[in-house]
Amino acid sequence: MQSPKSQHITWSDSYVTHAQRTERNRHEGAVVWFTGLSGAGKSTMAQLVERELFDRGCHCYILDGDNVRHGLNRDLGFSPDDRTENIRRIGEVANLMRDAGMICLTAFISPYRADRRIARATCPEGTFLEVHCACDLEECERRDPKGLYKKARAGEIPQFTGISAPYEEPESAELVIHTDTSSPEECVNQVADMLEERGLLSVPAAD
Ligand code: ADX
Repeated sequence: MQSPKSQHITWSDSYVTHAQRTERNRHEGAVVWFTGLSGAGKSTMAQLVERELFDRGCHCYILDGDNVRHGLNRDLGFSPDDRTENIRRIGEVANLMRDAGMICLTAFISPYRADRRIARATCPEGTFLEVHCACDLEECERRDPKGLYKKARAGEIPQFTGISAPYEEPESAELVIHTDTSSPEECVNQVADMLEERGLLSVPAAD
């Protein structure tokens, strides 16, 4: 990890421990990192999973690519370097949310394996769950919910993921959901089951 530019900085701790936050929330903090092509269903899945987890009493929040690019990352475009910085910042923010006790759901294309690896490395072992929204490019292009593939094919959007910029598929995601062949309900259940099996959705009650 790159060391900070600033010198003479120290780390200040809190009187509230992570264990105390977990105990109060009744579940662990975690990052559920959805990755996939534009139109693969990342935002939809994050929204449905958030609803499901919220209804089960979990504290959760979504960080979504398009939204974050209106604010925190409004200074970034889609060059490889800007995408790397986009994902680095989101990885940091997602980890802060996790540390605060939330289940943070992120919906970013995050096309580069190296960038996703850096985001993963910000989180403690076992708390970063990569979920690949696997959907054929053809199907994403057929859906084209924002009309962007059409524009990219017409040469109006440079460096468009899947068309003129790469997408590196995960090789060891915690979960692959097939958003082109499974129903949204099936996909939500797969994500919730994965979190449940890993013990992230509940903690034993204190004595
Ligand atoms: S990422 O590659 O840096 O992870 P991010 O998820 O933040 O991308 O933003 C992707 C969204 O930006 C897409 O869903 C689409 O709506 C929009 N977008 C605009 N230009 C591009 C582009 N060149 N490539 C991909 N998505 C783009």
